[in-house]
Amino acid sequence: MSHKVALIFETNEERDQLVGKLKPMSGVSISAHVGGARSLQGVMVKEKPDVVLLALLRPDDAAFEVIEAATLRHPSVLVLLVSEDTGLTTLKRAMRAGVRDVLPGPLNAASVQAGVDYVKDSESITSRFVDNEGTLYAFMSAKGGCGATFLVTNLAYLLAKASKRVLIVDLNLYFGDAASYLTSRKSEVSVVDVARQSRRLDGSLLEASVLKVRDNLHVLCAPELPYKLEEVTPETVAAILALARTEYDFVLLDMARTMDPAAVKALDLAERIYLVTGQTLPALQDTLRMIAVFEGLGYGREKIMLVLNRYTKSSQIPLGEVERTTGYKVARVLPASDDAVLASINQGIPLAKLAARDPVARALNEWAQALAPVAVNAGGKPSWFSTLTGGM
Ligand SMILES: Nc1ncnc2c1ncn2[C@@H]1O[C@H](COP(=O)(O)OP(=O)(O)OP(=O)(O)O)[C@@H](O)[C@H]1O
Ligand SMILES: [Mg+2]
Repeated sequence: MSHKVALIFETNEERDQLVGKLKPMSGVSISAHVGGARSLQGVMVKEKPDVVLLALLRPDDAAFEVIEAATLRHPSVLVLLVSEDTGLTTLKRAMRAGVRDVLPGPLNAASVQAGVDYVKDSESITSRFVDNEGTLYAFMSAKGGCGATFLVTNLAYLLAKASKRVLIVDLNLYFGDAASYLTSRKSEVSVVDVARQSRRLDGSLLEASVLKVRDNLHVLCAPELPYKLEEVTPETVAAILALARTEYDFVLLDMARTMDPAAVKALDLAERIYLVTGQTLPALQDTLRMIAVFEGLGYGREKIMLVLNRYTKSSQIPLGEVERTTGYKVARVLPASDDAVLASINQGIPLAKLAARDPVARALNEWAQALAPVAVNAGGKPSWFSTLTGGM
């Protein structure tokens, strides 16, 4: 299959300099243009390229605005910026404008090859995983602070340790903080940026947008500040989650307690909703309200999983009371372990790593094993699971 690559330079001199040196590549047709960002849309219309390599020494806001207008109108064309400025700020700004990546300048034969590789990658990634259908679970606290973020992040960590490919999507669009429970690193790209580019979404774009806590544990982060949230619509959320399911074994959603259309779409698509509650009257009351909302949305009883977190036997509201009041069986119980859990969250280190023998870590282990059974001591070599639980 032939690939069409369009090159756009700022000046005639730059163009002539490279074009004289370029060797023909089999299966690739190349056209070269000048005029910088202003030429982008015209080239897209005229050449119908698969990929455009746009060389800009120092892209400014005006250039990004023109690029954004062009990528919005031609979402199927892959645009790569080639620039001296490959810093994170430029990368982030470029991604917002619909640019797939920023390659280091000057534009040369290697950049052309990179462009062709991008096209081939996105073709193969979209076809490679079409049969995979990862598990999609949503986690929501019945009341603020019941523990949804701690549980979803720590469960994700354990599933990843069991060799599953796991993605957490932070749908707490206002001040979501899921990544910080696992790492001190921050992401430059958020779910809002990906939603903004949903029409050109493919595996390589998703991969480039996630924060990699470890090889197989990724987080699609909430934005640093709640701007441009209108990009996150039911359609864009559905597109992101559908793609994520083809790329990961588990897609776990950290939900806010809002019921806007995008959140409802995510909940609709989830196979299970883990509703995290506690042994307090306000938590119980909000659990009832939340269940009423879920039932109103037509969700079956099997979809709603009640999780009792920070459980203590001596509480004035015993487990049986939670079940009687809600009419739901408690699917998972996590004990209280204030100091260990707080230390884990404050340090951004998963509890299983920090304190493997802690009762909460053990309960999370059981939960992870129920979701993704692993063979303990298969082949005589201790698995991570037996190591983690001290062989129990
Ligand atoms: N099993 C537990 N034992 C003791 N403390 C816990 C436990 N689970 C969570 N916590 C504490 O509860 C607090 C809130 O947890 P977390 O941030 O996960 O809740 P949340 O439901 O995501 O809150 P928010 O509504 O702010 O998103 C944390 O500070 C944590 O220390
Ligand atoms: Mg939270």
